[in-house]
Amino acid sequence: MDLFSQIEEPEREELLNLRKELEEANYKYYVLNMPTLSDREFDEKMHRLQALEAQFPDMFDPKSPTQHVGSDLDKGQRTKDKGQNGKAFEQVKHKYPMLSLANSYSREEIEDWVRKLPSGVEIVCELKYDGLSISLWYEHGQLVRALTRGDGQQGDDVIANIKTIPSIPWKIERSDIPDFFELRGEVLLPWERFEALNKEREEQEEPLFANPRNAASGTLKLQDPREVARRGLEAYLYYMLGENLPGKTHYERLQTAKQWGFHISDAIKVSHSVDEVMAYIAYWDTERKNLPVATDGIVLKVNDLREQEELGYTAKTPRWAIAYKFPAEKQLTLLKEITFQVGRTGVVTPVANLEPVQLSGTMVQRATLHNEDFIRSLDIRPGDRVWVEKGGEIIPKIVGRENPSPSLPAGGECSSLEGRLGGVSRFFPTTCPECGTPLVRVEGEAAWRCPNEAGCPPQIKGKIEHFVSRKAMNIDGLGEETIDLLYRQGLLHNIADIYDLRLEDIAAQERLGEKSAQNILDGIEASKNVPWGRVLFALGIRMVGETTAKKIAKCYTSIDSLQWATAEQLCAIEDVGPQIAENIVAYFNDMRNLEILERLRRAGLQMEGEAAEGPQSDKLAGQSIVISGTFSHHSRDEYKALIEAHGGKNVGSVSKKTSFILAGENMGPEKRKKAEDLGIRLMTEDEFLEIIQS
Ligand code: IVH
Repeated sequence: MDLFSQIEEPEREELLNLRKELEEANYKYYVLNMPTLSDREFDEKMHRLQALEAQFPDMFDPKSPTQHVGSDLDKGQRTKDKGQNGKAFEQVKHKYPMLSLANSYSREEIEDWVRKLPSGVEIVCELKYDGLSISLWYEHGQLVRALTRGDGQQGDDVIANIKTIPSIPWKIERSDIPDFFELRGEVLLPWERFEALNKEREEQEEPLFANPRNAASGTLKLQDPREVARRGLEAYLYYMLGENLPGKTHYERLQTAKQWGFHISDAIKVSHSVDEVMAYIAYWDTERKNLPVATDGIVLKVNDLREQEELGYTAKTPRWAIAYKFPAEKQLTLLKEITFQVGRTGVVTPVANLEPVQLSGTMVQRATLHNEDFIRSLDIRPGDRVWVEKGGEIIPKIVGRENPSPSLPAGGECSSLEGRLGGVSRFFPTTCPECGTPLVRVEGEAAWRCPNEAGCPPQIKGKIEHFVSRKAMNIDGLGEETIDLLYRQGLLHNIADIYDLRLEDIAAQERLGEKSAQNILDGIEASKNVPWGRVLFALGIRMVGETTAKKIAKCYTSIDSLQWATAEQLCAIEDVGPQIAENIVAYFNDMRNLEILERLRRAGLQMEGEAAEGPQSDKLAGQSIVISGTFSHHSRDEYKALIEAHGGKNVGSVSKKTSFILAGENMGPEKRKKAEDLGIRLMTEDEFLEIIQS
């Protein structure tokens, strides 16, 4: 190898790594709705990749992320919010490719773009809505397709869900419209709806959406238009395409669309200079906080359609338009202290305690520092002033410190970069901050862990909290505070102790009278009916989540059979990899766990599953049942399964055909009113369980 190629080699490798990283980031953003990179990071990496590809033309690859836009095509994953039967939507080729926009972040970049346009050009300024793009096809005035962007060439037809958006017309009754036209725009979940949805999900212990964009995306791919309608999507339209369309400018076309009844923003403005554009940006950077939907920038478009045509397109973006992204809200504040939290599984997480600071409407005083490697990578110490950012995520993050130059240390006590780096180990504990046991770092993991599972207080309490939680044994009344009280009194040391609690033990606690004690005991008694799959989840075996536990319980229908399974056998179960299998085997190899399991069995817990699937009875045969509200004995999904197992049908909305409503707490007022009007019976969950158990 000559000297040149040796120098080039790391850059070629960097190029390949960047392609992989950007492809993965696209997948996580568009398909999983779990962004991993900020827009800025993404753009920086994309620019670097473009530069490297220009440097090494022999490495051209048409599949590179620089050559195509990210894809949101439904790949048929089995996620809860997606169709259960694989690909759920018809995939349709776009009439015109759906491209992305180049991003800019400063006046200089906007000036660079304007310089390449014809002189005296008119520029339309619009808000950049932060949702999902949608392409609506109208044939003879009729909405016939609603396609997501997909991979830019073809998208998923989500028309049934789009029809739930009140501002999108299903039919335009006019004589002056072309036979075919397409309108593109953005589907959004308004802030208010997003917050209500997350509140509801929190109550039902479902994972929260990180931002309205993710919520809108998850919603648009749902298989149940009634649920989509309930969530309340909105759309803004910003681009009309087709043949023989009226108007010579983009602005005129949007005004025409408005007259035809489409939802077009009022914030559109025609500008004639960069100064005017910057004034628009300055106004909306503040004013956008009062809008009902999320925006993340503005879009600049050449107004004249002939000029647009002449400017044309690159492989991924039009040359006649560009986005300007608003900077993420960021604040400098003092990192007062780093504390360490020990979780249920013993992982020690560093937490930044900050001088309180106002950020995107909320007061921020704590932020996770994830693990030791994260602290090292940012090189931060208590006493530093750090940048806190609130991007699309719920939890604010620390993105750097003030003055990161080695010659100007900000850490106080250390006077050189080396000193600062050496400092990490000085304040990251080597022993558990809760029980003093030396911490271990498992190979291949970034986390430090306290191995004292049976003796470390937050691990003991965390395991009990997990055991009683709603999706596990669902023991009402036994919350975090009560567990803490009973633990400190020496009455609770492990999950089996729960079944030895006596009324007088609980009633003797501060703030707990006989009535709450009886409630807790009732909850404990009811938990003995919790099915085997959930008991397995409740045990808290590392990495065995709710869904995995259910899958395991289907294959191993009793604890006895599971106990003797080898790691190899366990790996044959869908979703169970070597790590999970090892964790299960290790759990059953620990004598202390076997003792606990024996006590749970003696207490009467379900340690065996139902052998056969299919209908268990026909007690509900021919009945249409609506489920509404929240429940204490079973989750909604379990009630749905119970209805089906007993021959009934679960339906979404109340009509005169509804047999009865299984009504939990906080039932929706609309459903209640409709039921009353139609004289339909509301049945409590206890009454329902009595019927199916009789
Ligand atoms: S125009 C060919 N206008 O931003 C250009 N896009 O980052 C078509 N977006 O894919 C897009 N607001 O989903 C346009 N006023 C607006 C927009 C907008 C939001 C989205 C759109 C696009 C993405 C590019």
